[in-house]
Amino acid sequence: MLISKAVIAAAGMGTRFLPITRSIPKEMLPLVDRPVIQYAVEEAVACGINLVVMITAQGKASLEEYFDRNIELERSLQQRGKKNLWEKIHRLPDMANICFIHQKEQLGLGHAVLSTKEVIGKEPFVLILPDDLFEQKEIILQKMLGIYQKFHGSVIALRQVSHESIGRYGVIRAKHIDGNIYQVLDLVEKPRPENAPSDLAVMGRYILTPEIFPELEATAPGSGGEIQLTDALRSLLEKQEIYGYVTEGDYYDAGTIPGWLHATISLALKHPEFGPELRKNFFVSPE
Ligand code: UTP
Repeated sequence: MLISKAVIAAAGMGTRFLPITRSIPKEMLPLVDRPVIQYAVEEAVACGINLVVMITAQGKASLEEYFDRNIELERSLQQRGKKNLWEKIHRLPDMANICFIHQKEQLGLGHAVLSTKEVIGKEPFVLILPDDLFEQKEIILQKMLGIYQKFHGSVIALRQVSHESIGRYGVIRAKHIDGNIYQVLDLVEKPRPENAPSDLAVMGRYILTPEIFPELEATAPGSGGEIQLTDALRSLLEKQEIYGYVTEGDYYDAGTIPGWLHATISLALKHPEFGPELRKNFFVSPE
């Protein structure tokens, strides 16, 4: 079955960015010339998605406004001959069909995904967590879609991480299948490094089958009183196979201030328009 819908979970509180996130959603923070959320939508579009289901929450209306048409601004830019700027903002609302779902209470990622059940229906779908940014974004979801077509099970993105940092992630126990493909045997949320079943951490890209919804409905609130997607995936494992794809290439965690700074600096230095000047000003040697 072809996958035509992508869920973007953007309802989290973003407490790691406080005080900024008192009034600005972390997904609206800029990464060079676009907000973080735009990278996620572009990624969904690049892998052929027809409908983006964006989950937002109270205080995040700017996400919806950002992808809406602003006729007055467009007219004013046209009248003043600012064609480049007009093109930039004119194409935004047409980038993708986006529907917004409001998560009324921030009860965790699992709860957020469950709120899309009616819109997704009985189809497999892509789930994107916009905080996780990959340099090879076109490749990752395409590869994962290929794995889904071959094995017909859910697929999660994985990344090899260091022993010291493994406790920050969901970690899998796995059987190697071929190349970068693994079969997931178990999932553990934030293990102590000495108990981690592997060095393969779960990243924010998933292909999920609709069978995840009954598992989410049956999942009791776990750590922090939140409904965890990892718990639902664990119970899904008893019924369906789940596969993992190990991503390589640069990765940024734009959900933390150090990660966002890292992403901003790296992407700015690589930017064709801004990079050369920045390198000169900061005496960074050319690549
Ligand atoms: P995080 O665990 O990063 O939480 O969410 P957060 O609230 O976004 O950020 P902090 O920890 O307070 O700084 C992981 C993903 O799940 C989504 C987030 O938007 C992010 O994409 N999420 C989380 C929801 O959509 N709803 C929730 O209730 C919780």
